[in-house]
Amino acid sequence: MTDRNWINSRETDTYTYDPGLGNTAACKSSITYLDGEAGVLLYRGYPIEEVASQLSYMEAAYLVLFGEVPNSEQLSKFEEDTSQAVGSLDVEFYSTLTSLFANSHPMLFLHAAVQTLAISDGSFLGNAPLFIGALPMLSAMHARAAAGLEPVAWRLDLPFTERLFHARFGFESSTLSKALDLLLLLHADHEQNCSTTAARVIASSQADPRHVVGGALGALAGPLHGGANEEVLVQLQEMLEHGGSTEEILSEAKSGERRLMGFGHRVYKNFDPRATLIRKAAHDVFEELGITDPLLEIATNLEKAALADDYFVSRKLYPNVDFYSGLIYRALGFSNNEFTPLFGIGRCPGWLAHANEQRSDAEQRIVRPQQIYVGPALRSL
Ligand code: SDX
Repeated sequence: MTDRNWINSRETDTYTYDPGLGNTAACKSSITYLDGEAGVLLYRGYPIEEVASQLSYMEAAYLVLFGEVPNSEQLSKFEEDTSQAVGSLDVEFYSTLTSLFANSHPMLFLHAAVQTLAISDGSFLGNAPLFIGALPMLSAMHARAAAGLEPVAWRLDLPFTERLFHARFGFESSTLSKALDLLLLLHADHEQNCSTTAARVIASSQADPRHVVGGALGALAGPLHGGANEEVLVQLQEMLEHGGSTEEILSEAKSGERRLMGFGHRVYKNFDPRATLIRKAAHDVFEELGITDPLLEIATNLEKAALADDYFVSRKLYPNVDFYSGLIYRALGFSNNEFTPLFGIGRCPGWLAHANEQRSDAEQRIVRPQQIYVGPALRSL
């Protein structure tokens, strides 16, 4: 499904200089397809709108990892393997590790914690239930410790997202877990984004999944990538303190003084289909909870003002997945610095699926790009 003409540089002996690799395909993949002009996102060929309305996060994670929607038997085995993996975690050890990182950003804690997971030396994807199961529980444990709350006994009998929600808040809510499930599903994969490319680079050296997920978490933490959802809230809260006006932030964004966080995308030059789904979910969640959040109104006004401004329209800058997601996480009770970990929890299947694809592709080899040397010519000391 590509209408571009690709040059295979290895066959034609051509070299390209492509900072950010925006015009370079470093791999072939059958996992996710994006059409940025049309605002299309397919998980293994299925439109994100259908996946979001018909599948659970665990079904979508299975689809991303293994290529097909699981039947009921495959799904219960996947859920079972994931809860068993959670059951194998040494809670004592992780509560000590959590207390050591209680004052660190949760992304730093998760980065460290994944290195301690006891992987099996079976198939690479055989470890998927461990990472997919462990990340949310460790994130919840860290968030509670950071908030000075007692840890919650994990409910292994609950399905994935309900288990996550209960571990974080200490109570069950199918309504709130359903909203969270949709957000995780919408983050499950997104083609060759920065953190997935990091995962592929690390996997290309045959490093084990702990390094792959750890490295991907590191890339995701950046404010231009997964860290943006947390920055959007900071931006909206700042606007609230200035009476909610959009003028100042838009002029600063247009002057290059700052970026309008949650806006723009390397691929989407139209609406990010996920942003459309998340915007609707935000309104539904607030209605369902019977709450109003002044930040939602500010976000809606900011989107309207930016989409009427030639600076953004001429550069095809639209709201991306991060623009509204933080507002829902906040309504569900998560603190700002948990938003990026939640992004990583959702994205974990994508990282592992791409890393597995990288390792299994016979055309692939260790990633080692060229450079254009601009340093000093040969000289002697
Ligand atoms: C994610 O790749 C993925 O798929 C990522 C992701 C995923 O699911 O994995 O979708 C998740 O990371 C979403 C993006 C979250 N980041 C942000 O919201 C941060 C704000 N956005 C920007 O920093 C930016 O739009 C990026 C990083 C998302 C994309 O950067 P690009 O493709 O390198 O764009 P660019 O820097 O080349 O910008 C092109 C022009 C520039 O202006 P000119 O030089 O032409 O005058 O657009 C401007 C930029 O200054 N611009 C912005 C802007 N984004 C681009 N100006 C103001 N605010 C912005 N947000």
